[in-house]
Amino acid sequence: MKFKFFDKINSTNTYLRRQLKIEEFEVIVAKNQTDGKGKRDSTWISSEGAALFSFAVNDNYELDEKITIFTGYIVYKILKNYIENKDKLTFKWPNDIYYENKKICGILCEKVRDHIIIGIGININNTDFGIFREKAIALVEITGKKYSVQGIIEEIVSTFENEFHSLNREWESILHIVNENSYLKGKKIVIQQNGKLSKKEYRFLRVDRRGRISIIAKGDSDELKFTSLQFKVI
Ligand code: BTN
Repeated sequence: MKFKFFDKINSTNTYLRRQLKIEEFEVIVAKNQTDGKGKRDSTWISSEGAALFSFAVNDNYELDEKITIFTGYIVYKILKNYIENKDKLTFKWPNDIYYENKKICGILCEKVRDHIIIGIGININNTDFGIFREKAIALVEITGKKYSVQGIIEEIVSTFENEFHSLNREWESILHIVNENSYLKGKKIVIQQNGKLSKKEYRFLRVDRRGRISIIAKGDSDELKFTSLQFKVI
């Protein structure tokens, strides 16, 4: 595994995106990011003590939707080893990891030319979440212990690298774990389309074989499936 470390950088995803030649599994690690990127152009608050890193894999169109879910599965699997109350750690479709009702990890996968950049942010020893204080949690707050951020990053990337080649073969069992440990299990949601929240209430059903979210409206018999969806848990 090759690493590039930065004390401060705009964003590890942006850094990789701007490289002329992207090397598979070269890991870009930052202590701080000045312009950390989240999903849908949001900001990822990045402070020292968090694991902030990105790496790329070659784009294989067959894997498109699966990569995001797979990355969440790997992070979930590693973090679980550090946590006593394992049931409280869950996977929130499409790519967040939660502890109880708070986010501990966010993942941002971006396609760039013939690569997919995988950016991962995990709250480990950092506890300053600014305006996101009510919605975020760090590993140190769960266990009361401090961790080697680099050690956790290495564990995640090496597990990803080892299991990546068997992703297709193991897909059904990965999905099973993801669905069994889903934050959305049994939850009702409203969906957001064109900036508006739906009046209808939906129930989360599962993540399907194509990595889509499957939901059903109260009183309806047809499932709806989405590759991408904005929603709020109610
Ligand atoms: C999200 O939850 O919206 C995704 C957050 C992803 C944050 C990580 S931190 C390392 C990498 N670099 C970035 O700019 N973003 C990702």
